[in-house]
Amino acid sequence: MMSLRFFLLLLFQLSVSGILAINNEDPTDKTMEDFSGYPIHAPIDYSFAAPNTLLSFLSVDSTALENQIDELSTFSDTPAPSVTRILYTEKDVLARRYVKNLMGLSGLSVREDAVGNIFGRWDGYEPDLAPVATGSHIDAIPYSGKYDGVVGVLGAIEAINVLKRSGFKPKRSLEVVLFTSEEPTRFGISCLGSRLLAGSKALAEALKTTVDAQNISFLEAARSAGYAKEQDDISSVFLKEGSYSAFLELHIEQGPILEAEGLSIGIVTAIAAPASLKVDFEGNGGHAGAVLMPNRNDAGLAAAELALDVEKHVLGSGSIDTVGTVGILELHPGAINSIPSKSHVEIDTRDIDEKRRNDVIEKIHQSAATIASKRGVRLSEFKIVNQDPPALSDKSVIEAMEATLKELNLTHKLMISRAYHDSLFMARVSPMGMLFIPCYKGYSHKPEEYASSHNIGNGVKVLALTLAKLSLNQ
Ligand code: GLV
Ligand code: MN
Ligand code: MN
Repeated sequence: MMSLRFFLLLLFQLSVSGILAINNEDPTDKTMEDFSGYPIHAPIDYSFAAPNTLLSFLSVDSTALENQIDELSTFSDTPAPSVTRILYTEKDVLARRYVKNLMGLSGLSVREDAVGNIFGRWDGYEPDLAPVATGSHIDAIPYSGKYDGVVGVLGAIEAINVLKRSGFKPKRSLEVVLFTSEEPTRFGISCLGSRLLAGSKALAEALKTTVDAQNISFLEAARSAGYAKEQDDISSVFLKEGSYSAFLELHIEQGPILEAEGLSIGIVTAIAAPASLKVDFEGNGGHAGAVLMPNRNDAGLAAAELALDVEKHVLGSGSIDTVGTVGILELHPGAINSIPSKSHVEIDTRDIDEKRRNDVIEKIHQSAATIASKRGVRLSEFKIVNQDPPALSDKSVIEAMEATLKELNLTHKLMISRAYHDSLFMARVSPMGMLFIPCYKGYSHKPEEYASSHNIGNGVKVLALTLAKLSLNQ
């Protein structure tokens, strides 16, 4: 019923505005004539067109979007094709400026909160209703690619452009959100911006004393980027209850399934439960030649043994859905002829089953204690940085996407997101949905990450039409 109303409204608006969307899509994509059966340049009376024909005129400017993705990737601290963009660095600030400028060019009113979450709003004709939001992140872990997060930010701005060009007018306002620091690289905290938006008091408190590896405080770093200006308390970032009527994130899949199965879109039903741990061991260190093996308490070997135990416990969970990674392992003093006196291990573990993931954390804890006592080193820290529950997508948002996919005649499947996303936290404050597009071999978090213009264009189209539907909801 909602869908019918949307079509009728769209039909009316298009016939009134007579706006013809531009088509700069990938040449391998279908042309507008292919879709519509009409010549592109002839004036068209939309009032006689069937809804499906109208939908095909909601055209993504894929060339512009591809250029923007390329340009954003140049704001990087490592050479192309890799991208490294760390929170509040000079490159991050430049990239943010670039995105704010694009939001402005799309006619969005832009505002930022105390940690640099950026919001670009297109006012609906009922601006007092809670808006529909969409967005993702633009920070990039060291030596990663140019699509992770970026597709969900630049693609969202293009989705707004698509709707504007079509003549569509939203009832609920539509808001594009650029989330601060989805990646945990600098301060060890994942989804920092969305975690705060979802009202994490513990994080707001912790950020008063959080420092990075160079001992620069979070607040100092935020201020250097123009945020957190007057206040140390950043709880002003928390969203008020009911701030959004729905939230929808577009993202590359970061896994191989859609490409392997030849599908256009993945509709995410749930996001796996992530956790991260920090562990420190301390031993006596000493001379690599002079201290005999029986007399050593090597903090480095304790870390190495723990890394192997992480793998053992993860594999021992009995489920393929349990994963664990030791992505950081640091030894002190880091000299070839010095027995490590300190080691630092960071562990990422996830599962779609929260209890199973928690059991793994408990086993890792037991291992750390056992290894420390066996090797005569001190377990000086075992810190659970975050231990988040999974999130479920909202039925209403899933249904809106499914209806859009039917109208656009795009193939899809329902799937789990094994990666985490800002949507994990937005689900705490809004009905949430996510849509995936295929990416080359599922590569992500490495420079080889790639999503075709065609697939990105499909994602943007689905995003645009679903946002339009959600914006017309009561
Ligand atoms: C997000 O970047 C993740 O690690 O899942
Ligand atoms: Mn990522
Ligand atoms: Mn991401």
